[in-house]
Amino acid sequence: MNAYQKHQDDLRKRPATWLVTGVAGFIGSNLLETLLQLGQRVVGLDNFSTGHQYNLDEVKDRVGDEAWQRFCFIQGDIRNLADCQQACAGADYVLHQAALGSVPRSIEDPITTNENNISGFLNMLTAARDAKVRRMVYAASSSTYGDHPGLPKVEEQIGNPLSPYAVTKLVNELYASVFIRSYGFKAIGLRYFNIFGQRQDPNGAYAAVIPKWFAGLLEGEPVFINGDGETSRDFCFIDNCVQANIMAATADDEAAGEVYNVAFGERTTLNELYRLIQERVATRVPAATEATPVYRDFRAGDVRHSLADTSKAARLLGYQPEYSVRAGLDKAADWYMDRFLGN
Ligand SMILES: NC(=O)c1ccc[n+]([C@@H]2O[C@H](COP(=O)([O-])OP(=O)(O)OC[C@H]3O[C@@H](n4cnc5c(N)ncnc54)[C@H](O)[C@@H]3O)[C@@H](O)[C@H]2O)c1
Repeated sequence: MNAYQKHQDDLRKRPATWLVTGVAGFIGSNLLETLLQLGQRVVGLDNFSTGHQYNLDEVKDRVGDEAWQRFCFIQGDIRNLADCQQACAGADYVLHQAALGSVPRSIEDPITTNENNISGFLNMLTAARDAKVRRMVYAASSSTYGDHPGLPKVEEQIGNPLSPYAVTKLVNELYASVFIRSYGFKAIGLRYFNIFGQRQDPNGAYAAVIPKWFAGLLEGEPVFINGDGETSRDFCFIDNCVQANIMAATADDEAAGEVYNVAFGERTTLNELYRLIQERVATRVPAATEATPVYRDFRAGDVRHSLADTSKAARLLGYQPEYSVRAGLDKAADWYMDRFLGN
């Protein structure tokens, strides 16, 4: 039995109450699904700004009615302190995911991103502290590495932020560290690196690259690559991210009050990624083999390369990602193809 299986086993024996913010979104709904499958009680908070009721409906279908009765949904907004207080009441663990994602969105509208990601974060931190929850784990971001050229990225060496979004995620970390000093409240930040998988939204101007490319290739629409395609990222399958959250929430106290990289630990260029997605789509849509990507300008605020050193999470949280990029893309492909083409 590995460390993750042991933590899951312990949770099954001693169910707890978890608050998942951003529960109707991509990462939040996957956390919800796993927690309900582990017999936990879950409170979910979301304002449906980028999340969807159909994500919750899908989780309900997958976990069944008995497990679904252990879920309580609050439609509310983290910009409202009273909503955060209501959601935190009685929670043992908080997994804080609610935020406005996307670098380009933050460049177009920094004020709204700031209100959600900084004021909302501070409300959640305050409400979780006051409710005396055992642990708050929050979604930080690899964008915090900014213009630091070092590879692989190690938690202690960050550069200057390259976008308003990156500023908000850095400020989250600063607030979390000040809450340790001022109140002894130890939150854990998880710096996610390009998470992908089932329920990641393929629609809208700010969709992430993997869902957007699955949708484009499945629908015969053009797929755009920003730059020359040699930009690289450490793509990480959602189940690895769920594992990191559960390990961080239940890790020993010595691991608290820190930030950790959450990634697979391998670099894939956009050109390679395109081929990997194309191969998978072509198993059901042969015409995808003929498709060629359209190259266009580099995007403002994007870093050229990204690769995580995940040894700190391995050492202190026991994080061991189970899915490689290829294995994760297999699972994601099944989900997108079922959704676009039917079973
Ligand atoms: N997906 C990634 O690759 C990635 C990478 C780095 C960091 N993150 C962070 O992970 C978290 C989850 O991202 P995701 O990819 O699941 O995005 P998502 O947009 O699918 O989910 C975010 C959820 O938060 C909700 N939300 C937003 N503002 C809210 C508010 N004010 N009050 C209540 N709910 C609100 C949205 O409706 C949505 O359901 C975010 O904090 C994001 O910044 C994600």
